[in-house]
This record gives sequence, structure tokens and C-alpha cells, in this order.
Amino acid sequence: MNASIDSTANAVAAVASAETPRAKLPARRLSDLSGLWPFLRPYRGKILLAFVLLCAASATMLTVPLALRDLIDHGFVAGSAINSHFIGLFGVALLWGFLVAGRFYVVSWIGERVTADLRSAVYSRTLTQSPEFFETTKTGEVVSRLTADTTLVQTVVGSSISMGLRSSFQFVGGMVMLAVTSLKLFAIILVLLLVVVLPLIAVGRGVKRLSRESQDRIADTSAVAGEILNAIPTVQAFTHEQFEIDRYDRSVEQSFVSAIRRTQLRAGMSAGIITGVFGAIVFVLWLGAQSVVAGSMTAGDLASFIVYAGLTAGGVGVVAEVWGDVMRAAGATGRLMELLAAEPVIRKPAMPEKLPESRLASVRFEQVRFHYPSRPKTAALDGVSLDIREGETVALVGPSGAGKTTMFQLLLRFYDVAGGAIRINGIDIRKLDPAELRSHIGIVPQDAVIFSADAFENIRYGRADASDAEVIEAARTARADEFIVRLPEGYKTFLGERGVRLSGGQRQRIAIARAVLKNPPLLLLDEATSALDAESEALVQRGLEAAMQNRTTLIIAHRLSTVQRADRLVVMEDGRIVEIGTPAELKRNGGLYARLASLQLAS
Ligand SMILES: Nc1ncnc2c1ncn2[C@@H]1O[C@H](COP(=O)(O)OP(=O)(O)OP(=O)(O)O)[C@@H](O)[C@H]1O
Ligand SMILES: [Mg+2]
Repeated sequence: MNASIDSTANAVAAVASAETPRAKLPARRLSDLSGLWPFLRPYRGKILLAFVLLCAASATMLTVPLALRDLIDHGFVAGSAINSHFIGLFGVALLWGFLVAGRFYVVSWIGERVTADLRSAVYSRTLTQSPEFFETTKTGEVVSRLTADTTLVQTVVGSSISMGLRSSFQFVGGMVMLAVTSLKLFAIILVLLLVVVLPLIAVGRGVKRLSRESQDRIADTSAVAGEILNAIPTVQAFTHEQFEIDRYDRSVEQSFVSAIRRTQLRAGMSAGIITGVFGAIVFVLWLGAQSVVAGSMTAGDLASFIVYAGLTAGGVGVVAEVWGDVMRAAGATGRLMELLAAEPVIRKPAMPEKLPESRLASVRFEQVRFHYPSRPKTAALDGVSLDIREGETVALVGPSGAGKTTMFQLLLRFYDVAGGAIRINGIDIRKLDPAELRSHIGIVPQDAVIFSADAFENIRYGRADASDAEVIEAARTARADEFIVRLPEGYKTFLGERGVRLSGGQRQRIAIARAVLKNPPLLLLDEATSALDAESEALVQRGLEAAMQNRTTLIIAHRLSTVQRADRLVVMEDGRIVEIGTPAELKRNGGLYARLASLQLAS
């Protein structure tokens, strides 16, 4: 009985919450849940089984009070079949137990399975999105959809819906049985419960508002902590520890205060519900007892009436609680479906062409115009034409923001050009499968990405099937071998998240080794702008030089030493090519390159 009262208290709060949408969720429509059907369909057999088990368990549960009534009315008479009554009751309990266990297992299985499928589907969808998608969607949001939203769906599919169904059966069945047992008492208890429950719904709304508030406060607290923990070196370098501790304390204090306010209201509400519901039941029991004394009702009827009343109240409680969950899950499903429906902007053509198996690539930019999707008004490239012969090394130079990295983004077809075309070995890259195109290109990005794995795995990212010997060979070429062997466990040394255990120059050499291992016909190098000390710069230089051997290379150069090794120089400014020529020619011409070169030489 206690349990049912407790769930009534939850219920009241839940009813209130179902009506006030959570600020962070978009409009929640129940129809959003239909998006789950493709994920549920493969398991229709199991769903049917769960439903049958559920119905059987509910029916069994509703017979318990009947058995109790018979026991009270006929079981205590001497000579009656008291033993068989108890055996019957025990049999019902046993059956009920097994049915409930079966339903629980099957339903939970469906919930876990559907969530796992949903997670995989959303993740694989997300990984195929173009960079444009990630410019508008925060990665944190995708992660939260993958974890929090799928967990909501799991709660609903894996328990709430079945709990809700069971409780609706319990509620409806209980009401019917109450009416059958005693129509008069049923009418009285109905009126009393309405009088008790309605005002409490208002209070419940307040509880829910406060509980959302305290949830938000907790989220604030973790946001504060998350940001600061990621920036510990900066915090300590500026000796802001005490400042940050105070900030966190204030935020924790706020969440404490709002939690306590909610608890006070909740406590008052529990008192109201327990006295109200128990009062009503006691009152009806008193009326019933009089009927029993007057002989118009049997003791067994009264006992089963009380049990049905408890079952019914518990049923309402759970249904209302589940309703809140279902609405939240509808919102979560809606957001997940949005992600699943997102089409990548860059797609494989229906009849992709093949690149020739040549070890060398030629590249041609033809009047390429391009602007980033988020900045439709400013051209990042404005009529760029450039021919790169097979095996040539071309250096791109120019001031920051000139559009150098953009050239690489377009070559990798992370974005499509707005005008003109890019050709590799004479084929327009839009006619290629992006995966095939990218398999022909090796890239060493401006900031090398290191995964939280060992050196072997990090270099092997360039070519998954490379043997250990090949990895070491590539590391030697990139001059990474010399520092890796001195790490505590050599190539098996864990490099830390985001490569925190490596220096900038070491990270770059790992990235170069990766590109060398891939051994692509076309190599794109985006030289790091971050200053390296002279020694590691020399090492990175030698690594690059080795990587560029016998390959078509396009290199974004920030250092004169790199520029000098190029066959030709392309000087860019404001999305346009302003000069092309050999380093010596351009120096003589006294244009932008000559100015840039003298600046760097001076420093
Ligand atoms: N994802 C993006 N969305 C919108 N604009 C962008 C994006 N990436 C770059 N830009 C803009 O495009 C222009 C060219 O950027 P790009 O990265 O090609 O410069 P860069 O020549 O590589 O400069 P740096 O030498 O500093 O690396 C810049 O004005 C930049 O602000
Ligand atoms: Mg750049």
C-alpha cells in the first residue's frame, strides 16, 4: 500500500511535468515516437511475446484479491478446504512471478537492443556528414544525443511503456472490479480521491518546476567544472585557483538551495497525499465495516475492495509518471530522427569514375570560386587557376587568411566549388567517389591530430593493414623514429589524449609518418605556424623532405627554408593568386613574396 501511495505522489508531480515542456527540448509531439518503428520492426515477434506476457501477468494479478475474498469468506469455516485455498493462492503467486519475470526480461532486451541499434545508426550517420554539418552542429550536442537522448528512448522502450500498459490494465481492471464489488463504495471513494488529488496536482507542478530548476543548476555546475578542468594549466598559470573554487562553490550552493526548496515542497506534498489518501480509505473502510456489521456486505468483499483500491491508485500513479517519460522520449526521438535524416552534402556520384593507378598525380584548378557555407557573402577563393605537374613540389605562401588551407579543403572535397572545377589526373573530382579521391591524397594538417593510443596505432592510422616493420620504416623516413625509440616503451608508448605527452614538433613528425605510410600519389602538407625551436624545426624539415620524394606535393609554407625547396611558388592574397614563379624569380620581381621573405628573414 505504501508503494502505491508513493507512486501517487510521483504521479501527481509527473502529471504536472507532462504539461510544462522542458525549455531545452523542442516541441514534443507524441507522433515523433513513430520514428522508432523502423528500429522496433525487426523485433516484432519479441514485442508480441512481451505483450502476451504482460496481459497474462495483469490478469493473474487481478485474480489475487478474488482468491483473498474466497479465503476470508469461506476459508475460515471449520471443515472447509483451507489447504486447497492456500495452495491455490500460492499457485497464483508463482504464476504471476514467472510471468512478470518473463515480461521484464523480454521488454528490457528489446529496450537495450533498440538503443544499441539506434546509437550505431546515429553514429554512422554522423561520421558521413560533411564539415558543413559540424559548422552548424556542436559536437557536444551530437554526443549528448548519442548518450542522453538514446538513454531516454531506452527507458521508455525498455520499461516505461510496459510499465504504463501494465498499470493501465491495473487501473482499468481495478476500477471495474471496484465497481463490481460495491458500486456504492466505489462512487464514494472516487469522489474523495478527486477531492484529495486535484489540489495536489497544482502543488506537483511547483515541485516539477523546482526540480527542473535544480537540474539546470546541476548542469551549470558541471559546465563550470568541465571548462575549468580542461584549462587547468591556464588557471594555475594565472593563479586563478581560488577564484575558480569560489565560482564553483557559488554554483554548488545555488543548486543546493534550489534542491532544498524542492524537497520542502515535496515533503509537504507527501504529507498531504498520505493523509488524504489514507484518510479516504479509512473512511470508506469505516463505511464498509458498518455494511459488514449490518450484513449487507461480506468481510471478504470488503478486503478485496481495499486491495483493488490500492491497485487502482498505484495504477494511476505509474501511468501518470510514465506519461512524463513518454513525452520526454518523444522529444528525444524527434531530435535523433533529425540527425538520422540529415543527408551529407558531399555524396558519391551514381556512376563514379576511377582514378588511374599511377603513382603520381597532376592537379588542376580551373577558375575556382568558393565561399564557405557560413559566409555566403565573402569569397574564400576567387577565380583561382593553377596547374601542378606530376611529381612537382609547389609551395603556397601568403598572409594569414589568404585561402591556402581552403585549397586543401577543396582538394579533399570537404566542400564543393561554387564555380570552376578541380581536376586530378584530368578527372573532375566531383565525378569521383570521395573515398577513392581521399585514398589518393595524404595530408599533414596544420595541427597534427594524435589519438589516445600508442605510437604504432597512431602511425598506422595512415594505412590500417601496415605491418610493424612498415610503420617503423615510415617513422624513420619522417624522422619520428629517433624520438619514439627513446620513449619509455618505444612504439608501444601511450601518447596521451590529444597527444599531450608529445611536443609540437614530435606531433608533426607522427603526422608526417602517417602520410608517408599511406604513400599517396598526392601529398598535402600544411606547415604548422606554431614556432618550433631550431632543432626540432630542422628535424621536421628533414622529415618533410623525405616525405616529398617522388611525389606530387602541395605544401603550404610558412618558413623560408621550406619555400626554397619548392619547384615553384604560388603567392596568394585575399583568395586570389597574385604571383607564380620560382623562388629566385619572385624575389627579383620585388612583389608580395619579396616583401614577405624580407620580413621573415629580418625576424
Ligand atoms: N569553416 C569556415 N567557415 C567560414 N569561413 C572560413 C572557414 N574556414 C576558413 N574560413 C575563412 O576563409 C578565409 C581563408 O581561410 P584559410 O584557412 O584558407 O586561410 P589560410 O590562408 O590557411 O590562413 P593561415 O595561414 O592563417 O592558416 C579566412 O578569411 C577564414 O576566416
Ligand atoms: Mg591555414
